[in-house]
Amino acid sequence: MTNRTDATHCPVAYPFTGEHRLDLEDDYAHARASGQLLRVTLPVGGDAWLATTYDQVRTVLTHPHMERGPANQPATPRLETALMTPQSVLALDGPAHARLRRAIAGAFSPRTARRIRPYLKAEADRLLDRLLAQEQPADLVAAYANPLAATAVRQLIGQPPSEDEHTDVVALVNRLAQARETPAEAEARDQLEAAVDRLIRSRGLPPGLLRDLSLTRAVGAGLSTSQSTDLVFAVVLGGRTPSFFLPSAALVLLQHPAHITVLRQHPHLWPKAVEELLRFIPIGLSGGFPRTATAPVDVAGHRVEAGETVLPAMIAANLDEHEFPRADELDLTRVRNPHLAFGAGLHRCPGAPLSRHLIEVSLRSLITRAPALRLATLAPATWHTGRIVRALATLPVEW
Ligand code: HEM
Repeated sequence: MTNRTDATHCPVAYPFTGEHRLDLEDDYAHARASGQLLRVTLPVGGDAWLATTYDQVRTVLTHPHMERGPANQPATPRLETALMTPQSVLALDGPAHARLRRAIAGAFSPRTARRIRPYLKAEADRLLDRLLAQEQPADLVAAYANPLAATAVRQLIGQPPSEDEHTDVVALVNRLAQARETPAEAEARDQLEAAVDRLIRSRGLPPGLLRDLSLTRAVGAGLSTSQSTDLVFAVVLGGRTPSFFLPSAALVLLQHPAHITVLRQHPHLWPKAVEELLRFIPIGLSGGFPRTATAPVDVAGHRVEAGETVLPAMIAANLDEHEFPRADELDLTRVRNPHLAFGAGLHRCPGAPLSRHLIEVSLRSLITRAPALRLATLAPATWHTGRIVRALATLPVEW
């Protein structure tokens, strides 16, 4: 393992920039080239390590002594002031985490994702017809990516169709997310918990996560209402990720019409194209959720001491030349593509199968149903701010 003093440079302020764009800051490439973990100072809680090479990041994500719970503590270095609820699936380790993953396994299975796909296709086509009938330019984020991602997550949790805003779990999760760290948080949390409780006690739910939670509770093996609420919260929030990814993917394709031509001529390339877009397009503004070592860990030749925190930068690992030849090129025919866009290890994204269908269906519909689509000439795209996602807030298009 590396001598610690060699690797311990003066810490660098992190995230590297507050500017949002798809090209990664050069600092990631420099850190990767050094082969060392980079010492960084985070906005809250002090210094941590940043992992940027493929091997480093994979090790941090998969090592049994790299844990989420100890990284979600008041004194631990992190990007945001707010901590996660300790019983969130993203903040647990070991058997408690495994129990939650079992509870969501059916709703997130590849079979369920295949079942949902036709609904996504129908919704994509409906949204596009509506978009193409409206005035130009139109915003692809508001008119297409957001409602499509919401449809996917409603299908996955099995939200019953209802006009009743008190049981609209997706809307209530969004309200709670907005109310975090404000005086309105407790009330928003109570409303969400009441909705989840009412739904999982009701009969005749459509297939999906809520029905699974209801059925396991009926046989006495279920989660408490509070645990179910946290789980639904994490799932619905995670379900927003495609709404951040899809506009970036559309932007990349519209900026490179040659790729669109290739996909039109060779539709069998779609599955490979989806993987390559996932590798190529960074969704996180910065490294992924931090892990804290619970014992000394060898991270690709660098010793991380027990109690130290590491951020796994999947966005940098996915551009590692040692793993992906010509990593900076978008190659829709790339054959070997073990990217880390969905993470790795026990917290690996359960939404990967559904997301793959959603990405393919939505981009495919976009380029076939709206063949003349292009970036709006006079209205520039705008970016989200904040330290978590690297995503477009608006993407004006015309046709
Ligand atoms: C483009 C699509 C998506 C990407 C790139 C993505 C990425 C990720 C990544 C990298 C993780 C692992 C985080 C870590 O280990 O620190 C994760 C976890 C998670 N994702 Fe996704 N995600 C996507 C879509 C979704 C969707 C559609 C859902 C739900 C409907 C979802 C729900 C979750 C949940 C619940 C977790 C936590 C898993 C756990 O902690 O065990 N994701 N996602």
